[in-house]
Amino acid sequence: MSEMADIQWFPGHMAKTRRMIQSNLSLVDGVVEILDARIPESSRNPEMDRLVKGKPRMFVLNKSDMADDDATSRWMNYYRSAGFTVVKLSCKSGNGMKNFLPAVKEQMLEELMKKRREKGIENAPLRLMIVGIPNVGKSTFINRMAKSKKAKAEDRPGVTRTKQWVKLGDNVEMLDMPGVLWPKFEDQMAARKLAFTGAVKDDILDIEALASLLLENLAENYPGALKERYKIEPSGTGFELLENVGRKRGMLVSGGEVNTERAAITVLDEFRSGKLGRITLELPEGE
Ligand code: G4P
Repeated sequence: MSEMADIQWFPGHMAKTRRMIQSNLSLVDGVVEILDARIPESSRNPEMDRLVKGKPRMFVLNKSDMADDDATSRWMNYYRSAGFTVVKLSCKSGNGMKNFLPAVKEQMLEELMKKRREKGIENAPLRLMIVGIPNVGKSTFINRMAKSKKAKAEDRPGVTRTKQWVKLGDNVEMLDMPGVLWPKFEDQMAARKLAFTGAVKDDILDIEALASLLLENLAENYPGALKERYKIEPSGTGFELLENVGRKRGMLVSGGEVNTERAAITVLDEFRSGKLGRITLELPEGE
């Protein structure tokens, strides 16, 4: 298997966000975690289970327009059987977005709604915390769902930001919190998948190693995608696959060698923009 240096995260940022989540949890009725449907497990925050213990939870499998539909269905079943509410949607095409609020009210917060109906207060606001690691599409999701315009965040050090509630539906509100949620960087397999999707800035990565790893993964799981897009045989090491892509695309330098850096940029760009087809990089455990 190709080698790549470990990817790191920053402990200071983690501690700050962790505190923020813990201190605001009592204000909300449920926690919604946005995930990337191409990597539903690798795009989860590693501590969320521990942090939000006891609160109703929901997963939004976003970017489902780029994920393998069959794999997305398997993930939905998997998370449902683990007791989570799940919806799949695409903030890009808009598909599935109309299912979000009904799933909040009728599934995630079903118990609470029932209690409120009994007390005759079913129109009281439902309050959510929406979390997600970078690049899962959290801002796009909130912007598309928000009914009221978001107020500008006060981000200067030493200034306590007042909490902001953003309306997502007639009686559903979201707590707008600063802070960046950290991904699963202790698990290097997850870190690589995050890097494939563009969740990690490429300038800190060895992109030729990264593209080689991606090609190796695709040769095993989606060989047809490589044949179709690059007209290459899905065999050999990751670096050989990369050279073959470059050769097929005529990316040569003097002496006839392949410009593997250009080939790597092409492979990563094309994967990230969905040109290789709808691909999911992991399946539920045991599948
Ligand atoms: P974040 O707040 O979680 O960090 O993510 P953000 O909303 O900034 O989205 C990250 C990237 O993912 C953006 O692309 C965004 O357009 C894209 N995206 C969000 N939701 C979807 C989706 O459902 N499907 C697809 N295909 N893409 C989605 P970008 O290239 O960074 O920016 P731009 O192309 O929007 O300019």
